[in-house]
Order: sequence, then structure tokens, then C-alpha cells
Amino acid sequence: MLSAIPRPGGTPGEISAQLAQRAARVFPGGITRNTVDRDPSLYYIGWGQGAYLHDVDGRRLLDLNNNFTTLIHGHGFEPVVDAVAKTLRDGTCFSNPTVHEIALAELLCDRIPAVEQVRFVNTGTEAVMFAIKAARALTSRPGVAKIEGAYHGAYDWAEVGQMGTPLTWGPPDNPRPVPAYHGQPSAVAENVVILRFNDIDAAVTRIKANASRLACVLIDPMPSRAGLIAPDPAFLEAVTRVARENRILIVADEVLNLRQGYEGASARFGLDPDLVAMGKIIGGGFPIGAIGGKRDPISIFGTALLSQGGTFSANPVSMIAGLEAMRAMTRDNFDRLESLGDDLRARLRASINRAGAPFSVSGSASLFRIHPKAVAPSDYREAFLSPQENRTMTGLDHFMKDHGVLMPKGAASSLSTAMTTSDIDFVADTFEKFLDTQDFQHDDRV
Ligand SMILES: Cc1ncc(COP(=O)(O)O)c(C=O)c1O
Repeated sequence: MLSAIPRPGGTPGEISAQLAQRAARVFPGGITRNTVDRDPSLYYIGWGQGAYLHDVDGRRLLDLNNNFTTLIHGHGFEPVVDAVAKTLRDGTCFSNPTVHEIALAELLCDRIPAVEQVRFVNTGTEAVMFAIKAARALTSRPGVAKIEGAYHGAYDWAEVGQMGTPLTWGPPDNPRPVPAYHGQPSAVAENVVILRFNDIDAAVTRIKANASRLACVLIDPMPSRAGLIAPDPAFLEAVTRVARENRILIVADEVLNLRQGYEGASARFGLDPDLVAMGKIIGGGFPIGAIGGKRDPISIFGTALLSQGGTFSANPVSMIAGLEAMRAMTRDNFDRLESLGDDLRARLRASINRAGAPFSVSGSASLFRIHPKAVAPSDYREAFLSPQENRTMTGLDHFMKDHGVLMPKGAASSLSTAMTTSDIDFVADTFEKFLDTQDFQHDDRV
């Protein structure tokens, strides 16, 4: 299905352009979070419905962003809307607990093998931060080992090494803890050890060499920004073994990848974490984060060794929305999403093969990412885009948008239960049309 009012070349609509002018006066850089799509210019959303977004200028887009993979049911999911509408009149936040937080915690503890108890916070950033703090409180060590290129939110130690470039990332056997912002205290980077994904020997060596100062290994089993590449089970196994031998905790960041299955990402990929950071889908479209874990490590939150609060933590709106969204994610619904994802990845790959195009596809379950690389990348460095590849992806991004598909650039695309097989056809057909517009035979990308 094409957009209601197609606009050539991704040019902004008139109303978006006017809003962008107003925004430029009140927001630095004209935006209030750097991650919104500005390519080639800002467009404002009027409303979302099911699998589709409607921008204020009348364009309709199939939403493969889903607010950075959060909306597993798409927009305006009725059970969430109804439950939230009911609770709004009863009060939206209290300094006392409510029954709703117990219900959502019970659901998570029932489903996720590594989660026996939970603490709720407001964002994935906070979840990762408190998991790291818990690991520090348990080990009396400051350091974090993490995967190069992996995004874990905005806590300083979790940000290090997330955006190295060929100029800054250092030699492959000694990746640098590249700061995430100008002026980051050097003491932060000094306490971060960067590991390359799936590089077993180097990871084991680096963890051993830094063991006395490491509180945890922070690991997202399929880091989206680092390439959405599947973990080598031997890598996860080796990292866990050397961590356990050295009393270092394994913190799984499942903020994004909990949507890998009914029991989450660690269970799917064979990781056995001590603590799990969660977020996104468990809030049903409202702000949320959670730290879960086995009873022994997570019980640190119930002691004076670690303080954790948060004005809006466990607010009933997020709890109720999350409960409804997660209840609706039955095993059958996870299976259905997975099969839509399998179909789409297979169709994208078939189109690439037919066209002899220098592209590859990564991902699993309801997540996928298209790389402008003939050979599928196996880590962040290989997934990193050259200037030419960046232009190719910008071209793809614009083409998809111009034809009614919003596909995040440089991060995971996600499916929602609101999508149907015809939506999958639409994405696959649009990508095939894009490939038809390219001349790969006379192309130095091939
Ligand atoms: C893997 C991962 N961890 C942590 C975060 C941070 O979550 P939030 O944006 O809710 O703070 C994100 C957000 O995209 C993420 O993808």
C-alpha cells in the first residue's frame, strides 16, 4: 500500500516544516532527542494505528521502527488502551506500591528463567545502570566489560565503546574504550574493558587480564547497533565460564532483545546471566525498565548496600500497560511473529540473490537488519559503514519511506503483532523494487 500523499525525494510536508521551525526555537538542534529520524528532514507524527504511522502531512508509513522496537503490538493496542484508560481516573502515581507491579513482576518471573525477582525502574538506561551498580555492590569492583559497538543506553560506563570508528577504535586485539561524549571523565573509560563480539580467545584473555577490577560482563546477546549479529554459543559459553571462574557477574541486557521469544533472549541463545536488564516491550508503550535476576544476586536490592528509588518507578500506568501487552504475547503470538520474521528475511535474501546485490540480512525472531555488504558482517567493525555504504543505506531509507515503509537506518527493524502477511509482502516487494533501481553490474560496491 502506498502512502496517501506521496512526496518525492523524502521532502518534508508543509506542516512538518512549520513545526520544525517552531521546534528550532525551543530545542537545541530543533529536537528533543538525538535519535529521531531527520533524514532528510524532520517529519511529525499525527497518530499511529496498528502497524501504521500517519504523519501530520498525510503520509502513511508502515512502522518498522516501532519506537525503537518497543511496540510489539504496534500502535493503539486495544487491551492496553482500555486498561490504561481505566486506571487514569484512579491515579497515575503513588508513593506506595500497587497490586499492578506485583502482577507484572509475577509474569516476568514465571516466564524468564534467569529472573526470580524484579525491581522496576523507568527506562532501559536505568535498568542497565542499576544492574551494573548491583554487580559493583556484590563484588566491590568498579569495572565493566562490554561488547564493542553495543548500545546499552546512557549510563556513562555502559556508553563507552558504543561508537568507535576506524580512526578511534584501536587495534583488533586491543579495542579502545572510546568515550561516548566529549569531556567524559577519563576515569570512566579506565573502568571499561572492550570485547569484540564472537572473538572467543581475545575475550577470555581480556577478561582474565582485568579480572581483579571487573564487576560484570555486560552483554546483549544480539546487539542491534553492533550489527544485530547472532552470538556464537561457544562465545557466550566461554565468556560465562571465565567470568564465573573470576567471580565476575554476567549482566544480560535484554532491553531490546527480550522480544526474541517467550522466555527472552538469554534463554533463546543459551546465556545464563546473573542479572537481566529489561525495558521496551514490558511497558506496553509506556516508560519502563526492570532489573531481574537470580535470587542470590538480585537480593542485594533489598539491602542497605545499594540504594534504588525513582519517583515514577513502578507507576501503575506503565505496570498495567506492560501487563496487558505481555499477557497478549502468548507463545503462539511469539511463534507467529517469528514466522513473519523468517518469511521476511527469506524473501529479502532471495531478492538479494536474484539481483546479485551486495547486501545481506541479519536478525532473528521479529527483528531484522539489512546491511549494504555482500558478506554478512560478524561483528561491529565489519558492520561499520564506509561513506559509500552509508550513501547506499540513505538511498534505501529514502526509497522505502517514499514508498510508505519506515525502516530505521543503522539499527534493528522490528515487526509487530499488528502486521499481516500482506504487510510483509509490502516490505519485501518494496525492497525488491529498490534493488531494481540499482545498477550493480557497473557498481564498485560489487
Ligand atoms: C540494548 C539496549 N539497552 C538499553 C537501552 C536503553 O533503553 P532506554 O532508551 O529505555 O533508556 C536500549 C535502548 O534502545 C537498548 O537498545
